[in-house]
Amino acid sequence: MRTQVAIIGAGPAGLLLGQLLHRANIDAVIVERKSPGYVLGRIRAGVLEQGTVNLLHEAGVASRLQSEGIVHEGAEIESAGERHRIDFKGLTGKTVTIYGQTEVTADLMMARETSGATTIYEAEDVRLHDIELRSPRISYVKDGIQEEITCDFVAGCDGFHGVCRQSIPAEAWQAHERIYPFGWLGLLVNKPPVDKELIYINHPRGFALCSMRSPQRSRYYLQCTLAERVEEWPDERFWRELSARLNPTLAAQLQSGPSIEKSIAPLRSFVAEPLRFGNLFLAGDAAHIVPPTGAKGLNLAASDVFYLWQALREHYRTGSNKALDQYSSRALARVWKAERFSWWMTHLLHRFPGATTFEKKIQEAELSYLFQSEAAQRGLAENYVGLPY
Ligand code: APR
Ligand code: PHB
Repeated sequence: MRTQVAIIGAGPAGLLLGQLLHRANIDAVIVERKSPGYVLGRIRAGVLEQGTVNLLHEAGVASRLQSEGIVHEGAEIESAGERHRIDFKGLTGKTVTIYGQTEVTADLMMARETSGATTIYEAEDVRLHDIELRSPRISYVKDGIQEEITCDFVAGCDGFHGVCRQSIPAEAWQAHERIYPFGWLGLLVNKPPVDKELIYINHPRGFALCSMRSPQRSRYYLQCTLAERVEEWPDERFWRELSARLNPTLAAQLQSGPSIEKSIAPLRSFVAEPLRFGNLFLAGDAAHIVPPTGAKGLNLAASDVFYLWQALREHYRTGSNKALDQYSSRALARVWKAERFSWWMTHLLHRFPGATTFEKKIQEAELSYLFQSEAAQRGLAENYVGLPY
């Protein structure tokens, strides 16, 4: 098979790039190792920056988002019994939209199916070949048969554990990483959210987050140790611990119920540099990971895809490689600012095991400054709603 762009991975990054390229009449084949059902089964975050919303509109997949997405003009931060609203709209003029990544992925899958573009699911043993040559090749096994795709470019959208980044010679790239000494235990429940906006809580027992997917579906997170397993957290224990981290008024409003999903995720900051090797371009989680505190994962995948889509479109329309040559530096400039914000927000809100008294005092001072300073709140707000592309 021959195509212009081979996209590895049918998560949000791969599907969004495929949809944008299709609308630009650029041929792209997506190769995904899992089934559509498996990809849709992943429960991830649900806060979209305006830039991401705009790009989904550009891709022609935003009609359900338009009708079901919930626009939020602010969020709450609580610490030591004090609760402060960060007024995104008032401080930046911008908002965020609550709409689950699962829904984004479903909308993109539907659009791709309607477009008739080729997506190969359940592809095994995916390998990259000749990525430095004019015609890179992708080999894979489908239904026991060895297959091959030749292309002009490869988009590595295969996530943190994918094959693309591993196909780059070790000496050709560098990893920058910070692993956090705790994880997030997440729970999804078909009950109304405890409040109308998101609440981030720094509590002596650990971080907690009250989020949502719709007026009838809520998402909660608890900071937990890396030694814990989800089996040790029956629903009753989860609700008891969450209530213990909420102020009494909020705890009284909490509507618990049977979990429809419950999982533990580790927290990591990670960036691979550069994002290009020959005709391979990394985008999304294949290129970087952020701790979910700042809700940046999906939104960074969107800005990477925006830059790569623009660059590929320029190449095929004009023959210029200027934007392709600038892709890595342009994407990384925004990635690092989101990495900084996510790292900062994680340090602001979590209880670090073994923290010194000095570190605890610095965290208290950071929170006190944030609660007292409009300038500090504007800094948080403009990063949370998304810095410009
Ligand atoms: N071959 C083909 N596909 C692969 C391979 C491989 N060797 N390895 C992984 N994949 C697929 C995965 O099955 C997954 O469907 O690549 C896809 C990568 O999707 P994501 O991990 O969702 O990454 P991305 O599309 O960049 O989206 C980033 O997802 O993980 C969240 O928090 C993250 O919200 C962010 C978003
Ligand atoms: C979520 O709703 O899953 C969510 C929201 C905000 C975050 C992280 C996760 O910072």
